[in-house]
Amino acid sequence: MRRLYPGPESPGEPEREWALDELAEAYAYPAAAAAGAGWLRANMVSSLDGAAHHGGRSKPLSNAADMRIFGVLRALADVVIVGAETVREERYRPARRRAEFAERRAAAGQTVVPAIAVVSASLHLDFSLPLFTEPEVPTLVITGAKAPHARLLAAREAGAEVITAGDQAGVDPRRIKPELVRRGHTRLLTEGGPRLLGQLAAAGVVDELCLTVSPRFTVGTAPRVMSGPEIPDPVDLELTDLLAESGFLFGRYRRP
Ligand SMILES: NC(=O)c1ccc[n+]([C@@H]2O[C@H](COP(=O)([O-])OP(=O)(O)OC[C@H]3O[C@@H](n4cnc5c(N)ncnc54)[C@H](OP(=O)(O)O)[C@@H]3O)[C@@H](O)[C@H]2O)c1
Repeated sequence: MRRLYPGPESPGEPEREWALDELAEAYAYPAAAAAGAGWLRANMVSSLDGAAHHGGRSKPLSNAADMRIFGVLRALADVVIVGAETVREERYRPARRRAEFAERRAAAGQTVVPAIAVVSASLHLDFSLPLFTEPEVPTLVITGAKAPHARLLAAREAGAEVITAGDQAGVDPRRIKPELVRRGHTRLLTEGGPRLLGQLAAAGVVDELCLTVSPRFTVGTAPRVMSGPEIPDPVDLELTDLLAESGFLFGRYRRP
């Protein structure tokens, strides 16, 4: 890993693997987030030609350094928000406990792992999966007030905590963050997918985008990392950090 921006601290320094602690420092949430306002970070990987998946999975776009950052971002978060289609396609499992982050999480007053929060209107989810039955901390299901009753019962029976954040079957993306912050989750991370992230971005509630650009192209028709109706005006973000390893670029962008 090398820092390209700001810096580099030592020009010409060769790539080296960063310790997990170094990555955790580099990606620390801003203090204001921990102070209660809540900070929503998105983490996504894109191919050079803009694809957010290949064959329905993001792994073909990723590499070891990307997975390392993915793991660190999870380890820093109170909650990981994810769309139901990503849970289905990527066969999401509960976050796993990692000894390397135990002390840091305890000192920050965090649970041993972040909770996974699944956003779904249909609740067409397999509640017999470990994501719901075996998490270290209960999985959250974020849905609308008119979600199917039988599926709500199934979610609760499996041990999930259901959060209502919309008056219809769907969720109002503007309500996700305040509902989670109210429950003490102020360091928020979303791992997409593109349809959920498109709505969060269009609603203006994404504070930061961690974007991996993979030096691969895929052609095809996969969506970009945000998909949905075009917003009236392009939104500017500022680049705060740019890291590189093995041709992969790891950018971090914030709302000014
Ligand atoms: N490149 C990356 O970094 C990355 C990251 C994540 C995922 N992916 C890829 O993206 C693909 C899946 O992404 P996707 O965009 O199709 O789906 P997605 O955003 O993961 O999930 C869409 C689903 O989330 C629920 N949802 C979204 N907005 C909602 C709202 N306002 N109210 C209620 N429910 C809502 C709905 O679930 P219900 O249908 O249950 O109602 C909807 O069908 C996968 O192939 C995955 O591999 C890539």
